[in-house]
Amino acid sequence: MARQKVTISYLQKKMDEGQKITMMTAYDYPTASLVDQAEMDTILVGDSLGMVVLGYESTVPVTMEEMLHHCRAVCRGAKQSFVIGDMPFMSYQVSVEKAVENAGRFIKDAGCESVKLEGGSEMARVVKAIVTAGIPVCAHIGLTPQTATKLSGFKVQGKDAEGARELVNSAKDLEEAGAFMIVLECIPDQVASKITNELNIPTIGIGAGKYCDGQVLVYHDLVGLFERFTPKMVKQYINLAPQIREALIQYREEVEKGIFPGPEHSFTMKVEEAEKMK
Ligand code: KIV
Repeated sequence: MARQKVTISYLQKKMDEGQKITMMTAYDYPTASLVDQAEMDTILVGDSLGMVVLGYESTVPVTMEEMLHHCRAVCRGAKQSFVIGDMPFMSYQVSVEKAVENAGRFIKDAGCESVKLEGGSEMARVVKAIVTAGIPVCAHIGLTPQTATKLSGFKVQGKDAEGARELVNSAKDLEEAGAFMIVLECIPDQVASKITNELNIPTIGIGAGKYCDGQVLVYHDLVGLFERFTPKMVKQYINLAPQIREALIQYREEVEKGIFPGPEHSFTMKVEEAEKMK
């Protein structure tokens, strides 16, 4: 049977039936096509774009225009997977009005089906306003990379009872505000498990253990295309970078030695026509 278009009610049904939800990041058309063909439930056009594709030091400099440009490409490649566009830093913090307007651009200009934004209880009214405007919102708590400086670095969050309680309360507030799903990043298994048990919406973990309703990884980490560092939570399923480097070196050497292009990659004209050219 042909695969159906993934919807929010399908994701909710998967969770209700105890089936795990799958999410993968993508930032361009060919990757989105592959992720879609692999039957991933959801594709996140993460602002991790800034680090793994654009070469920034963090996700902080990523702009709306950069996100929208890449979201458009992903939406062209994603046929059945549900596409979530990540709102970049300062696109939803300045005012609720600006947040709704920018969320709308992900839907209207880029073709995404929902948006994601980072933050706990303090973001509940922003989530509510965007949802009220008719745009589904995926929340994101725990280690929130856009505000990592405020968290004193890229550290596991909710390691003590007070921090854990704050995360549970944030998750509840965001659910009440209308979020349809929530990403839990870098928090202890026990906290993720408690949040997952107490919420009615799916939890998607990254560095949050196996008790979440689903999992997400960054594509470039999974396929070994980001070599600057590999966080503990990443499982690398294939290491492409050395293979690509090797192919590029081989190409350069073959061009330098006149081996490429060979006759099988060249075009010839009829001998008579070649004669006439002389
Ligand atoms: O930007 C991103 O890729 C993310 C995921 C790590 C959840 O936010």
